[in-house]
Amino acid sequence: MPKKIKLGILGGGGDSLIGVLHRVAAHINDNYEIVGAVFSPELQESIDFAKEIDIPTNRIYKDFDTLIEEELKLSEDERIQVCSVQTPNFLHFPMAKKLLDNGFHVICEKPMTMNYAEAKELEAAHQKSGKVFALTHTYTGYPMVRQMREMIKAGALGRIHKVDARYYQGWINPIIHDKEKRSSVWRLDPTKAGISSCMGDIGVHAFNLLEYTTGLQVKSLLCDFNYLYEDNQMDVDGTVLVRMDAHVKGVIRSSQVATGEENGLAIAIYGEKGAFRWEQERPNFLYKMSDTEPTQIYKPGHAYNSALSLAGTKLPPGHPEGIFDSMANIYLGAAKAIRGEKYNDGEFPTMTDGVRGMNFIESTVASHKKGNVWITLD
Ligand SMILES: NC(=O)c1ccc[n+]([C@@H]2O[C@H](COP(=O)([O-])OP(=O)(O)OC[C@H]3O[C@@H](n4cnc5c(N)ncnc54)[C@H](O)[C@@H]3O)[C@@H](O)[C@H]2O)c1
Repeated sequence: MPKKIKLGILGGGGDSLIGVLHRVAAHINDNYEIVGAVFSPELQESIDFAKEIDIPTNRIYKDFDTLIEEELKLSEDERIQVCSVQTPNFLHFPMAKKLLDNGFHVICEKPMTMNYAEAKELEAAHQKSGKVFALTHTYTGYPMVRQMREMIKAGALGRIHKVDARYYQGWINPIIHDKEKRSSVWRLDPTKAGISSCMGDIGVHAFNLLEYTTGLQVKSLLCDFNYLYEDNQMDVDGTVLVRMDAHVKGVIRSSQVATGEENGLAIAIYGEKGAFRWEQERPNFLYKMSDTEPTQIYKPGHAYNSALSLAGTKLPPGHPEGIFDSMANIYLGAAKAIRGEKYNDGEFPTMTDGVRGMNFIESTVASHKKGNVWITLD
């Protein structure tokens, strides 16, 4: 059994949404141990939380500068090897860059940075560092998403002609309709969330899934945002027409005011020989559709699945695995890369996905602001 990878955590405190997903995911495959953290900007809060989850408090630091400074004083054998960045968006870039510059591997939440310029700067820092950088586009870890990618790569759909990715939530309704609340959450504050709220938060997952599953790139787009209120500066809903190449066109729909929707991420890819449809709220069913045959349902864990898909299941068919396992698969891929083991490039999203994502987000904002015009991505 290889030694566990020493993991540091930035953000993801007891009050956070995503912290528990990362902590559980990091432990699912027995690859990591949490040895240090800054769970919160308040030191005492971080210490209290460390006690609550039974992590030694001697390496709970007051901020990330101190974490880096103190960890560098430790021997390489003791030192944090990889840090997981789970803070609000504005801290991803400074934290990830300083970590890479100082020789740490990084696992980072999306959106990777606040804007495209920062993403390019981080890419340069990453190249210089030679370290592993994994971006937690959680949904790429689902076995059936991986299966879709592998089957499309093997030509199951023939020439693709239509793509449709949708990420609908309704959670921001009670906030956006209340003037006081909408001016107090970080996701609607451009200094904390970046240039976009809804598209940066969830639309970018839909974009990433389109590129991950098809292996194609979005070349240009036209976006229409909805802000709902005059005093709100951030998109809470957006519809994006995309062209992946001359014959592959489609739409990315993203909303946080889609009343009653929970975590409604769904993707459909249509080709000349057939189509795939997958929904995050029913992640263990991949529908393969055809004009001439009955619809087939692919499920995880069966020998008919690809090696990449099977690497993402731990139990026999019929034992439902979900979002914790999906995130765990990303941590597993990153662990292989950190240990210098062989891995499939579909096992975790990388810096390239982060740069693409920021190029996408910035282009949607530019398209909307210029009057809903077509914008070409790099
Ligand atoms: N991959 C996914 O599916 C997914 C899902 C949800 C959120 N996210 C991303 O995760 C990130 C966090 O989102 P969230 O919903 O958990 O936010 P949140 O507001 O619920 O939690 C943020 C946490 O960061 C901590 N924090 C704030 N400033 C800090 C600092 N200076 N140092 C250390 N910790 C600090 C807070 O104390 C809190 O514990 C965001 O970038 C978001 O886009 C990703």
